[in-house]
Amino acid sequence: MGRLFTQLNFLHGADYNPDQWLGQPDILEKDIAMMKEAKCNVMSVGIFSWSKLEPAEGEYQFGWLDSVLDTLYANGIYIFLATPSGARPAWVSEKYPEVLRTNSDLTKNLHGERHNHCVSSPEYLRLTGKINTQLAKRYAHHPAVLAWHISNEYGGDCHCEICQQAFRDWLKKKYQTLENLNQRWWSAFWSHEYSSWSQIHSPGPLGEQSVHGLNIDWRRFMSEQVALFCRHEIEAVKPFNPALPATTNFHGAFSDYDYWRLAQEVDFISWDSYPEWHKPQKQQETAGYTAFTFDLMRSLKPGLPFLLMESTPGTTNWQAVSKLKRPGMHLLSAMQAVAHGSDSVQYFQWRKSRGSVEKLHGAVVDHVGHLNTRVGQDVKQVGAALEKLAPAAGADYRAEVAMVYDWDNRWAVNDAAGPRNCGIKFEETVQQHYQALWQQSIPVDIVSQQSDLSPYRVIVAPMLYMVNEAFAERVSQFVAAGGVFIATYWTGIVNPDDLCFTTGFPGPLRDVLGIWSEEIDGLYEGETNQIAITSSTWSRTGRAYECRELCDLIHAETADVLGVYQQDFYAGRPAATRNLYGKGQAYYLAARTGSDFLQDFYQMIAHEYGITASTTMQLPEGVVATARYREGQAYIFVQNYSDQAVTLDLSEESRELTPLLKGDVLRDHRYPLPGFGVEVFMAGNK
Ligand code: GLA
Ligand code: ZN
Repeated sequence: MGRLFTQLNFLHGADYNPDQWLGQPDILEKDIAMMKEAKCNVMSVGIFSWSKLEPAEGEYQFGWLDSVLDTLYANGIYIFLATPSGARPAWVSEKYPEVLRTNSDLTKNLHGERHNHCVSSPEYLRLTGKINTQLAKRYAHHPAVLAWHISNEYGGDCHCEICQQAFRDWLKKKYQTLENLNQRWWSAFWSHEYSSWSQIHSPGPLGEQSVHGLNIDWRRFMSEQVALFCRHEIEAVKPFNPALPATTNFHGAFSDYDYWRLAQEVDFISWDSYPEWHKPQKQQETAGYTAFTFDLMRSLKPGLPFLLMESTPGTTNWQAVSKLKRPGMHLLSAMQAVAHGSDSVQYFQWRKSRGSVEKLHGAVVDHVGHLNTRVGQDVKQVGAALEKLAPAAGADYRAEVAMVYDWDNRWAVNDAAGPRNCGIKFEETVQQHYQALWQQSIPVDIVSQQSDLSPYRVIVAPMLYMVNEAFAERVSQFVAAGGVFIATYWTGIVNPDDLCFTTGFPGPLRDVLGIWSEEIDGLYEGETNQIAITSSTWSRTGRAYECRELCDLIHAETADVLGVYQQDFYAGRPAATRNLYGKGQAYYLAARTGSDFLQDFYQMIAHEYGITASTTMQLPEGVVATARYREGQAYIFVQNYSDQAVTLDLSEESRELTPLLKGDVLRDHRYPLPGFGVEVFMAGNK
């Protein structure tokens, strides 16, 4: 992939708020000494500093920031310089109340909090443009500045009159005529047709929520509006130094905006990860979910590393329970980010604020003011580890399997009233499939329906309820050319207008999958059926697996039946199929199963199609491996998410291994990993 910044290998640092400590000038000096001690080389500065930068309109105070940037740079510490639009000074809201966000119930916010501006407000655009320009004029060529940190975690939507008008304009552009809009929104239903553009209003609890086309268009529009806002912020800073890259920090699998769209506006992806480690019985799930999110973030900009822009060195103060990271967990979670393609480990936050809502949120420097703390030691350990890994910075990630995850589908499947309103469990299904692969150390990229499928051999599309016809066509070509496609229940129900297909489900995927889904049965909690494997192509012939919640009643048209239902009136009907199509194969899993089925299924897939895992070692339960590749070397990150110590059998890995973190010469093929332990093995490339 290549490194993002020529100045640095791995980045290690935090959000830094010296603007909260201007009254105590000794703090900066102390902080810098500790940053060096922790081997930190980059800080994000200015994220929420607007009131200190522009205390009154047009009156700028840059002296403090000059001195922070100069002093950090003189000490070898680089900067992500933030634009401050994430929170605004009170004077902005008082003078220009249109910047205040209006909620979906049409209440208008008072001043306060953050992340709550109107993205369409001309005044907010003007004011953010001005402060961004001032920052860029002054600092775009400062040698400390590595990149622009645009705003902070854009989120939410605004329903004010300015946004309503912008929405109508967006719709006019998309549909041209009301007749077309009424048709494609199917608004004749309940007489919801529009006879003038002015009648259209954003969806909300006081008005329209039943027109699915309107609901999904509003989300698409808001994604576009935020992308344009982000573009506007970047356009204000870029001209001063076009070589300086820009990012905005994402929040993982956040549902508010289509991140495939927002990703187009930035030069590289960065994001903020806050897993709930050590939740009883959930540790593996948490690790798997975090791995998925890292893969999603990396995949948003194929071919580039991403940055872990925030993570907590200790606990958060907003999760239900602020559980301390157990010994080892901090290094393990940092290495997980790097394993999946991050070239940084950054924290929120460097130093705890003394007051306000985040005063008890984890930080590198606690209120006691030094690093002789457990967290301080943990952070130092990560700093040292990143130095040892330096040759792996910018290393590639390689996946033969891609999983389809797209916001349109996610919004649509969750919006529909249908077979299981007590829980359609789209996100859970994606996780089940992803984690079955992750547990087998099989690398996965995430793709949208617009992505290039050619780098992959297997495409997995869990619950692809909304299918784009062009994507279905590309899938058919992909399979015909020898690819493997895996689809599940509740696929191919609607087109991108959220209108049901009328050619039999799964719509445009019917041919390639070789099945017709006639009906789907919703099961109550606790109700189950079974799938028995009948096909001899699957080594588990005869084995039965429990299924639950959603059972698709399908007809195998050209597909072979791999397994059948065992109970109820549909006993004996196909529950899993495989269709030979051209040179490839397309699987349909008709019911939601437990992970036992998916583990076996993906093992069969990996075996049958020779999919490469990140290591050939048989890893103990709870242990996974993820690899990156650079200059003829593989870097295999072996991660133990269980609290039990394990012993790895290195003789099962065909390549010669050097443990980089421990820095030892291997004496023995038995390698001990403690509970929550991690090792990175450098290996001669295959
Ligand atoms: C988010 C924000 C940070 C901080 C952290 C706390 O990620 O970007 O400013 O509030 O959460 O976990
Ligand atoms: Zn608005």
